[in-house]
Amino acid sequence: MKITLDVLQKRKNTQKITAITAYDALFGRIFDGEVDVILVGDSLNMSFGGNADTTNISLEAMIYHTQAVCRGVKSSFIIADMPFGSYAYTKQALKNAIKMIKATHIDAIKIEVKPDKIDIVKALVDEGIAIMAHIGLMPQFIKAEGGYKIKGKTATQADFLLDSALAFEKAGAFGILLEGIQADVAKTITQSLEIPTIGIGSGRHCDGQILVWSDAFGFFTQFKPKFVRRYFEGEALLKQAVRQYAKDVTESTFPNENESY
Ligand code: KIV
Repeated sequence: MKITLDVLQKRKNTQKITAITAYDALFGRIFDGEVDVILVGDSLNMSFGGNADTTNISLEAMIYHTQAVCRGVKSSFIIADMPFGSYAYTKQALKNAIKMIKATHIDAIKIEVKPDKIDIVKALVDEGIAIMAHIGLMPQFIKAEGGYKIKGKTATQADFLLDSALAFEKAGAFGILLEGIQADVAKTITQSLEIPTIGIGSGRHCDGQILVWSDAFGFFTQFKPKFVRRYFEGEALLKQAVRQYAKDVTESTFPNENESY
């Protein structure tokens, strides 16, 4: 069954939303139907592109990866990130979001926003685009903020986050992604909204959870944020397999007769 916007919105206060990232058709197909939401996150610029942060990925690269994911995913709800600098003002945001929609088969778009961008959210929604607003720790802002900082530690920050979430809900966002927000603040935001929240590093009270797949399955091991739970030791297991393959080739035990024509 295809997960639709309606299904996600009805999950509020009933059943948790499960979400994971994917960046290609191969893994999109593996994750499809196992989770409600698949996000083509710009985190791919780090974990797969080997870059220091997400800021230098292009719209074309995001479209390329999103097209691949869409080829592999049939039932999960697909969201794609708009990359840094592609939605700085309304006209540009509309042009690029429409380009993304027309080039792919996504269900929704996610953008990292502060309330000064409320008009952009409204314009996108008015155009018929389902928008998820990403608030809290926003990786696209790290250069201005001097790093990755957990949000909601002060009352002022907590109020700002709650006001932002309420403003984006009013502007028509179908959901809010809460990243790196103190668990108690994320809980208050979640309880104050009618639309669902999906959290990453924001505690267990959000309406759903998302992880970057290469973190969750142990393929990205340069560092492990506190909020990541590893469900698989991908790097270690893959290294073991690739070493075995190299050994078999070196020792001429691969291919054998059954593997030859
Ligand atoms: O780019 C990404 O992977 C994200 C995370 C919050 C999941 O936005």
